[in-house]
Amino acid sequence: MRKQIAAANWKMNLSLAQAETLLNELVDSSPTLGAHQEAIFAVPAIYIPLALAKLANKANVFVAAQNCHQKEAGAYTGEVSASMLQSMGVKHIIVGHSERREYFTESDALLAEKVNAILAIHSTPIFCCGEPLAIREAETQNAFVEAQLKNSLFHLSAEDIIKVVIAYEPIWAIGTGKTASSAQAQDIHAYIRSCFASKYGEVVANEISILYGGSVKASNAKEIFSQPDVDGGLVGGASLVATEFTAIINALS
Ligand code: 13P
Repeated sequence: MRKQIAAANWKMNLSLAQAETLLNELVDSSPTLGAHQEAIFAVPAIYIPLALAKLANKANVFVAAQNCHQKEAGAYTGEVSASMLQSMGVKHIIVGHSERREYFTESDALLAEKVNAILAIHSTPIFCCGEPLAIREAETQNAFVEAQLKNSLFHLSAEDIIKVVIAYEPIWAIGTGKTASSAQAQDIHAYIRSCFASKYGEVVANEISILYGGSVKASNAKEIFSQPDVDGGLVGGASLVATEFTAIINALS
């Protein structure tokens, strides 16, 4: 059975004091997680030790990084490697968020290198894909997303691909309050799964968790998560409010 995941992406938000308050509220809220469910908190790198300390001993709860460098170590001033994150206790790393693709010009080829670096140290890449508005309006989103998957992931073996979590995040729905309808989410999630099925077979495709991201909130999470190919969400804005994110975790079916 594939995992259902509620993942928080705090992005570049919150002071140390605010981060501490939010973590305390999350700990107190004690959301319920089943055996196949996980809550993951991708906090700014500098708050990782704090989040690890606060969330320690919580079953099925993990602290993630929002990015890493593709190289293991070396003269890359300002960067953090996957193995450094792993040495702190981080097991999940977001790769290829649309904000990194856009503002830091991360290419599909670079993202393939990052995925390799993360898998090499037995951690989990949370690989983001998703189309801009013009592509959605031209109704070519399936081909666009398929190319992202092919270019950054299809070199992997079947054994490795099942270690990757996919986050489909249509760019037009991120931070806009405009969510894909549950039918739109289901359609493209099913398409993404069919791409994996064609390449790796049905059994492997059915093991891959595919999260939806883009204006997920407490009020719409249950409906989106109830779609058969939606295995949870990657949440930005609503993950900064403890009551909202706790409700989103509890919406995992
Ligand atoms: P919002 O939930 O704020 O739309 O952000 C989604 C996102 O980019 C999560 O990675």
